Amino acid sequence: MEKGMEKKEVLKMEQVSYSYVSRGERTEVLEDADAVFERGKLYAVMGPSGSGKTTTLMLLGRLEEPEKGSVLYEGKKICGQEAQGYRTWHTSMVFQAYNLFPYLTARENVEVSMEIVGKKQDRRKRAEELLTQMGIGPELHRKLVGKLSGGEQQRVAIARALAKDADIVLADEPTGNLDEKNAAVIQELFRKIAHEMGKCVIVATHSAEFAKKADQVLRMKHKRFTVVEE
Ligand SMILES: Nc1ncnc2c1ncn2[C@@H]1O[C@H](COP(=O)(O)OP(=O)(O)O)[C@@H](O)[C@H]1O
Ligand SMILES: [Mg+2]
Repeated sequence: MEKGMEKKEVLKMEQVSYSYVSRGERTEVLEDADAVFERGKLYAVMGPSGSGKTTTLMLLGRLEEPEKGSVLYEGKKICGQEAQGYRTWHTSMVFQAYNLFPYLTARENVEVSMEIVGKKQDRRKRAEELLTQMGIGPELHRKLVGKLSGGEQQRVAIARALAKDADIVLADEPTGNLDEKNAAVIQELFRKIAHEMGKCVIVATHSAEFAKKADQVLRMKHKRFTVVEE
């Protein structure tokens, strides 16, 4: 298929229900929820604490399986066994707590993610490019990530997510621990990742500033998403 002819719709939730059961108590998080996501767009999933933002990202990244309904990638349902391949090849998750390897350097953390998907390019060079693009200067590439600031670690985590070159980037409150200035830098990065790199970027956030940058806001309401066009 020619570029530009590619279908923009990349990910879809169809009638998804999900609940947690712990100590015999059931918490329904989603009930018959629908959502559609396109390439080249930035989405903000918003809602109060406990409303199901993290669960939504886990379902979209297929780290959790819907109890009812489906998650579709390019129009095809991701069935049980396909979830692992989908996770590895098509999605990147930026976790709220970064989940970096503290005893590896910034550069090594990014290289690891290319190794996992068997990228044959010059990994070191690519890792350095990505880190620089994220505003992590060369003097920090060889530092252990455990010694970097929160804002710097957040940027390394984003560089690592991009290294796989997956078409869907999921990020859980990526500016939650940052001051205003750093948050603005990260928000702008995500906007570019969607608009300039053509990725489908979905972030869970509390930030109204972030929501302003998004192409579409999905507000969690009554276990479903209400779409607000920006
Ligand atoms: N592992 C779990 N076991 C039981 N309940 C959970 C678990 N994870 C989340 N929940 C509950 O599910 C609801 C949605 O959680 P979550 O998706 O983390 O919301 P948010 O990210 O919007 O704060 C909350 O009520 C939370 O307490
Ligand atoms: Mg959360």
